Amino acid sequence: MSQLSLAVDVAGLRLRNPVMNAAGVLGMSHSLLRRIYEGGVGAVVTKSLGPEPRHGHSNPTLVTVEGGALNAMGLPNPGAEYFIDTIRALNGDGIPVVASFFGASIADFRDVAVVLSEAGADALELNCSCPNVEEELSMLGADPGNTEKVTAAVKEAVDKPVLVKLSPNVTDIAEIAVAAERGGADAITAVNTLKGIAVDVDFRRPILTNVTGGLSGPALKPVALRCVWEIHKAVEIPVVGCGGISDWRDAVEYLLCGASAVEIGTAAMKEDLDVYGKVANGIERYLESNGFKEVKEIVGLAHEA
Ligand code: SIN
Repeated sequence: MSQLSLAVDVAGLRLRNPVMNAAGVLGMSHSLLRRIYEGGVGAVVTKSLGPEPRHGHSNPTLVTVEGGALNAMGLPNPGAEYFIDTIRALNGDGIPVVASFFGASIADFRDVAVVLSEAGADALELNCSCPNVEEELSMLGADPGNTEKVTAAVKEAVDKPVLVKLSPNVTDIAEIAVAAERGGADAITAVNTLKGIAVDVDFRRPILTNVTGGLSGPALKPVALRCVWEIHKAVEIPVVGCGGISDWRDAVEYLLCGASAVEIGTAAMKEDLDVYGKVANGIERYLESNGFKEVKEIVGLAHEA
């Protein structure tokens, strides 16, 4: 009888288990990313990298709110070139790397993707969904035509799996996922954060310097699950679920809605990095106790109920 396996293949990206960290929440040094891997992820996802070093917004950039957190970091990062050595070091450790990236134009997206791909990233996560920056194309992912164009430009330039990370701040996320698939996306990551505001009643002004921020954490989960559900019905490519996962039950909900893997962000900010391994172990126990041998057997199963 075959052994139970947690290993998954997400659009050519082979993972020892279906749990990854979400881009952007934690830092991005080699040692931290290695600790995240030791914490139990199947692959590490970097903070979003752009064409140039970027400071991001001034503090406060993060506030906890009921059910989660609002962040408006503004995509701070050292620039893709600076990160090449870190990717190489992670390669040397045998750690699969998903490099998250962004640009202010389609040409930027393509150029950054080439840098990260040549550095040795195993896959790329195209972030066209940050709600916190004003540049012309920051919310490229709000428009199906632009999503298709940027995806196609990146796919023409690199031969690594490209996951396109979409925003929930749109009317019809399935339409945008279909556009990404048409552009050649290998997988969809759903979702980035939901735009919101928190107000300081004593100072009578928004708490975040950027005024708005992106909501993550448990309050985002039902919205993100709905997005995964709709995308799974609309596309053939795999979906990676992201939003408000705190424990294995949350992760299994995503798998049942149609995600082939999951990403965890906010929960790792308040727990230690063991959260990834705990979630992976919980998924394994769930498969075992319900008579399944592989993760893919439960992907989308709630659609058949
Ligand atoms: C940020 O840097 O503002 C958050 C990253 C994102 O939402 O993509």
